[in-house]
Amino acid sequence: MNMYFDPRKLVFIGNVVLVVVVLESCLLGSVSGATNQNDFKILNNFRNGLKNSQLLKWPAGGNDPCGPPAWPHVFCQNGKVTQIQVKGLGLQGPLPQNFNQLDKLQNLGLQNNKLNGDLPTFSGLSNLQFAYLDFNQFDTIPADFFDGLSNVRVLALDNNPFNQSSGWSIPSDLAESSQLVNFSCSSCNIVGQVPDFFGKLSSLTLLRLSYNKLTGGIPQTFQGSMLQVLWLNNQDGSGMTDSIDVIGSMVGLSQVWLHGNQFTGPIPNTIGDLTSLRELKLSRNQLVGMIPLSLANMNLQVLDLSNNMFMGPIPKFKAATVSYQSNSFCQSDPGEQCAPEVTALLNFLHDVNYPGRLASQWTGNDPCKGPWWGITCNPTNHVSIINLPKLGLNGTLSPSLVNLPSLLEIHLGGNNLDGMIPVNLTSLRSLRLLDISGNDFEPPLPRFGNGVKLITNGNPKLSGNSPKGSPKPSDSPVPPSANPESPSNTSLPPVPIDELPPSSPPRNSKHFKLLVIVVTAVGAMVFTFVGLLLTVYCLRKREEKKRFAAGFVMHPKDSSDPGNTLKISVADNSSLEAQNGMTTTSGTSGGLADSHVIEAGNLVISVQVLRKVTNNFTQEKELGRGGFGSVYMGEFEDGTKIAVKRMQAGIICNKALDEFQSEIAVLSSVRHRHLVSLLGYSVEENERLLVYEYMPQGALSRHLFRWKSHNLEPLSWTTRLKIALDVARGVEYLHSLARQSFIHRDLKPSNILLDDDFRAKVADFGLVKLAPDKERSVATRLAGTFGYLAPEYAVTGKITTKVDVFSFGVILMELLTGLVALDEQRPEESRYLAEWFWQRKSNKESLVASLDPAIDAKEEIYESIYVLAELAGHCTARDPNHRPDMGHVVNVLAPLIGKWKPVEETDQYSDFDISLPLPQMLKGWQEEPATQDFSGTSQDSKESIPSKPSGFADSFTSADAR
Ligand SMILES: *[C@@H]1O[C@H](CO)[C@@H](O)[C@H](O)[C@H]1NC(C)=O
Ligand SMILES: *[C@@H]1O[C@H](CO)[C@@H](O)[C@H](O)[C@H]1NC(C)=O
Ligand SMILES: *[C@@H]1O[C@H](CO)[C@@H](O)[C@H](O)[C@H]1NC(C)=O
Ligand SMILES: *[C@@H]1O[C@H](CO)[C@@H](O)[C@H](O)[C@H]1NC(C)=O
Repeated sequence: MNMYFDPRKLVFIGNVVLVVVVLESCLLGSVSGATNQNDFKILNNFRNGLKNSQLLKWPAGGNDPCGPPAWPHVFCQNGKVTQIQVKGLGLQGPLPQNFNQLDKLQNLGLQNNKLNGDLPTFSGLSNLQFAYLDFNQFDTIPADFFDGLSNVRVLALDNNPFNQSSGWSIPSDLAESSQLVNFSCSSCNIVGQVPDFFGKLSSLTLLRLSYNKLTGGIPQTFQGSMLQVLWLNNQDGSGMTDSIDVIGSMVGLSQVWLHGNQFTGPIPNTIGDLTSLRELKLSRNQLVGMIPLSLANMNLQVLDLSNNMFMGPIPKFKAATVSYQSNSFCQSDPGEQCAPEVTALLNFLHDVNYPGRLASQWTGNDPCKGPWWGITCNPTNHVSIINLPKLGLNGTLSPSLVNLPSLLEIHLGGNNLDGMIPVNLTSLRSLRLLDISGNDFEPPLPRFGNGVKLITNGNPKLSGNSPKGSPKPSDSPVPPSANPESPSNTSLPPVPIDELPPSSPPRNSKHFKLLVIVVTAVGAMVFTFVGLLLTVYCLRKREEKKRFAAGFVMHPKDSSDPGNTLKISVADNSSLEAQNGMTTTSGTSGGLADSHVIEAGNLVISVQVLRKVTNNFTQEKELGRGGFGSVYMGEFEDGTKIAVKRMQAGIICNKALDEFQSEIAVLSSVRHRHLVSLLGYSVEENERLLVYEYMPQGALSRHLFRWKSHNLEPLSWTTRLKIALDVARGVEYLHSLARQSFIHRDLKPSNILLDDDFRAKVADFGLVKLAPDKERSVATRLAGTFGYLAPEYAVTGKITTKVDVFSFGVILMELLTGLVALDEQRPEESRYLAEWFWQRKSNKESLVASLDPAIDAKEEIYESIYVLAELAGHCTARDPNHRPDMGHVVNVLAPLIGKWKPVEETDQYSDFDISLPLPQMLKGWQEEPATQDFSGTSQDSKESIPSKPSGFADSFTSADAR
């Protein structure tokens, strides 16, 4: 592989020269050797510095390396050393620091030895053309190493632990090496960005920089570069980012390895121009969009697209080897087309350049199912509203929307869309509202029918261009779903993608420690009064109140109601309606922006019923105790179990009751197979009770940290993987609910509960807050548990979904090591698991040594251990932007467990319908009149009584995590 000068040729030339030199020496009667004395000294220093110099077989006491006979591995010209070739001899020791005085050196082969110490500078070696230093153990590389290497063609530096502690970046001196053909430095500890100048070196054909710590994008200077081999895969730490567009212009490429990074955006459509391409590896990135047909038609040897967020149909690939699992394709088999509405929406997405949030949520083959952000469907499951205002959408409006025949309203106000409004849209028969205000559309505006309300203000190029036949542009956009026929929809504005200034992962342990100290100090104050959720209800500011009020309307219940209960009305989407059996009651008046109000009053359950099933909250029924109170097991006569959380008296003041209840209404709407369901609640006099499903195996923390004392079996590796995936799925769902995004904020093993099959569910939404909408993130009070807190949250109180990703990363570390996140009893360096683990994860040996001894660490699970460790590292990156989102986490975990198939939510609970509110399920057991007031649902009661009791509820055991 490596190219050398043909040594035979050189020896030949050398001999000719030597003949002349020898003749001269004879004539002059000289006795000294033919070798330049300084070159000899340097070789001698080299030999003397080695631990095992005997391997060189250089003659002891010899002083004439150029000979004749020349020393083994040494080649000369005119008494000057031109080559040293010691590949693979196993040499140990340093190179002399004055090595660059071998100024006629042309070809140096030191690869595959154990050379170590400080690599000397090669500065000024202007004759050097080939330098193979790869696979050694050089500890540092000097900053002026590349200075003056004006003729160098091949530099191979791979697999040296250069400047391990701080990393190093490639000095710009190398830009002057205009003859450079091959540069490789994989596993070299390079940090920072790929230098621009590589794109300007016109001879460069190979660039391998895998397994470093590079960040940032592929430089724009690579545009049109004739590079053939480009390896940037597996950057440790946060990974490379931005789009891969530029490779679409590099038509010489034959091997492109970009896997294991954080690249975003779609595959460029020009990829088909890369006619020499043989290998394209893009797995484990955040790439989006549809697979260009031109790529599918290329005769590649290897094509790896797995673990991204590619969407649309899977084309029929011509590549010899192809993988594409763990993406967001609409179908599972190549060649199958997407549903027409999906195709239309994906084309729309394409024309707005796949903004991250939409790209990650518009998945599957049914826009009326799952988290299709901004999409609302009518009762016959056709898309009726596109509601995407103020998302910063760039690009144009796709004519493909004409293929959504049921479309009533399109809300695209306040984006950056340009181009023309496609004429095709005038044939949307049901369309009644098109809001394109505040964009940059161009005339002409097509002629829409009379029934279409057009809102076009704030488009500079369109002003004065309002065509006849359409109503005048209005300044006040109609709220979505103002028409009573349309399905309810009042989506909150999407959560903006968080942008915090970049910073490095918690490598810098001093910084991290300092932070933890700050957190501990702040936290000590906060936590001494762990009223948390509930005290805050009393203190919450007015603006926050408004935020809730936008989504929820409170109606005092019939004043004769003995239990002082409230009926909660939730204005939310239609899927909630279906799930919770709520009834649409009003909305025609149009006075309120939320035109459809759905009642969710039937979550209320009477205290008497709960008293009865818990034997009046007897001690024996207590499952656990937490910051807010105790959790009891409730058991009905037929054996059905629930968990009842009883708040400490006085923890919720009356003033905060409204908000408390509206939040409960939200939480009880969250239904997912990996989330512990809140089934109901009770508020009577001083009692505040929450009812959860019961989880028989209790908290993960018991099984992970205290299995011995509880006489339990330790968790197997496979179980741990499954738990990780379950939790990831639950949190992914929380983060990506169609209309609102939730942040858990207190993920930890004591909040992860297990059922009899050890499938996990995330519990305790006591701290869940609605995700920020308008603001990027809201500074909120500190919550959560130390050891799991994301640094930016701990310091600033700013909260985004990436806070949960951090906590999840810590939980992965706990699953790997069996160590709890924070343990004051442990020695200082391992006290904070996250910090300690970061130091150990990159080295496979130290990683394996850190594993929980309870794991049966067989060779075959190593691969998944490495993946999990790497993922844990990504999730706990210091910069929240560098943490993956949970969708990506699921994509990484799913393949470890076996082929992942999405499971229909509905067949999970075949025993009974968990989506029904508890009171409905309890109907048969109830005696109290107060709880039988569930108008509008009694018709369904046939199906609502569980035929067989199934696991239920929450055990609140956070006491044991502290
Ligand atoms: C550069 O590396 C490639 C791949 O290893 C090799 O085929 C090529 O010969 C090298 N070029 C030179 C000038 O050594
Ligand atoms: C590598 O580390 C050494 C010693 O700390 C330092 O002198 C040198 O400048 C570093 N190299 C680079 C390229 O930064
Ligand atoms: C739109 O383009 C601007 C400027 O290029 C960019 O900052 C913004 O992130 C883009 N918006 C989306 C949703 O991609
Ligand atoms: C939209 O109209 C143009 C011109 O009439 C046509 O070429 C195009 O195929 C139409 N697009 C769709 C998606 O129907």
